[in-house]
Amino acid sequence: MTPSIEVKELSIFVGKQCLVESLSLRLMPGMPLTILGQTGSGKSLLAQAIMGLLPDEMTLKGEILYEGQPLLTLPKAKRQALWGRALAMLPQEPWHALDPVMKSQQQVAEVFELVGGLEEEQAQEKASQALTEMGLAPAKDKIPSQLSGGMAQRLAFLAATAAGGDLILADEPTKGLDYSRRDQIVALLQSRLVDGSLLTITHDVDVARQLGGELIVMCQGQVVEQGDAATILAHPQADYTRQLLAAEPSSWNKVSARTQSSAEPIVTLEKVALSRGGNRLFSDLSFQLHAGEILGIVGDSGTGKSSLGDLLLGHLQPDQGRIRFAERYKRHQLLKLYQDPPAAFAPHIPLGRLLHEVINLHGLDAAQIPRLMARLKLSEGLLSRTALEVSGGELQRIALLRILLLKPVLLFADEPTSRLDLISAQRIMELLVEIAREEGCALVLVSHDPILVEKVCDQVIRIAQPI
Ligand SMILES: Nc1ncnc2c1ncn2[C@@H]1O[C@H](COP(=O)(O)OP(=O)(O)OP(=O)(O)O)[C@@H](O)[C@H]1O
Ligand SMILES: [Mg+2]
Repeated sequence: MTPSIEVKELSIFVGKQCLVESLSLRLMPGMPLTILGQTGSGKSLLAQAIMGLLPDEMTLKGEILYEGQPLLTLPKAKRQALWGRALAMLPQEPWHALDPVMKSQQQVAEVFELVGGLEEEQAQEKASQALTEMGLAPAKDKIPSQLSGGMAQRLAFLAATAAGGDLILADEPTKGLDYSRRDQIVALLQSRLVDGSLLTITHDVDVARQLGGELIVMCQGQVVEQGDAATILAHPQADYTRQLLAAEPSSWNKVSARTQSSAEPIVTLEKVALSRGGNRLFSDLSFQLHAGEILGIVGDSGTGKSSLGDLLLGHLQPDQGRIRFAERYKRHQLLKLYQDPPAAFAPHIPLGRLLHEVINLHGLDAAQIPRLMARLKLSEGLLSRTALEVSGGELQRIALLRILLLKPVLLFADEPTSRLDLISAQRIMELLVEIAREEGCALVLVSHDPILVEKVCDQVIRIAQPI
């Protein structure tokens, strides 16, 4: 059988620096291939290379064949003609796949119509049906900025796959989704395998387990292990794979209890209710948050976790009830770490310049930058690049760095490890806990992972599905 995609000794360079080194793989129809690996190890670049979407400054060595046909020498227009019809890519950042001013249903209908060749009415009907199946019917007339992160993720999936490309490249399709939505995406990906091929990049070991098939594990631009997924996950051979699997939250130590203090809480909520867009998100919510305390928030996609954050930071007012802030803190120390890191950065300005703007604006000590870079395991070279020129996990850590420069008193961290491999996720969570405890920062942690929340948090609030 001809592989759908064959990659032969592919290396990717920027200048003289090698980002991916001599990688080979065969993607067979009906047999899922999954890539797990370290953040920044070249997974997304590989997917972009297959699509023909690498930035111009990068050079390639090696070969990529699509159904036996060399892709790298194909004229650009012919490669682009494959997009959506033959090759469908779900990019790591859902926002990159969506039109920011187009309503949800229209985004999907257009793909059915323009790429899939359906009549307008039929395209609308199919789009409406697809949105309903994904639990997105209430969002059909919303534009991307009005969607929650998990909703945007699901919508991007529909838009990318609507035209029925028989080869799907999915870059972290389940990040930040609660378990039921995650399993739904996995089932959808699997359903495409019946007459297609699937390459999935993920940090979620359970997703790799559920997909089965073949597995590649990458670290620092290289493949460290490759073979049958179930065998590797049960009996990892490479040191890196062993460390990765040992870093699942279920094996983390429970964070030790916070030392109680009698100081006034940083924020107090009394019987708070909030609605958005005419829908009641939650009501009767009461709790207090003290310095150094870690509060977990769990709840399904779209239930209002991020909106609760906006309330805690004073960006939204409750419909009912009261929120009281301790007066001794400044408002700029109540901070939010955004769920989607690209949303927090101007795309074309070097990251180092953006960090220095914060330093200058608030009169901070610039020596904090290298210290925090080291703690977050970020290399200094990243600072001369823009947000579009670093990996998803690198940008997520730079977003955290920028927030930490400001020494937050209350930090609302929305899925702060969603784009990180398990080893990095564990390290970053340890760092956040350390900062909360040592510097008396109240940390509000939103996560789709109840095990992680249970290991790390002092108290947990569950937001139920609105009625
Ligand atoms: N335009 C660019 N110029 C220079 N280096 C880049 C550029 N884009 C990405 N890189 C670097 O290439 C490496 C691989 O990036 P890639 O996005 O493929 O990582 P990844 O494995 O997908 O990581 P993550 O899990 O964090 O998404 C990273 O170290 C990144 O900083
Ligand atoms: Mg990536």
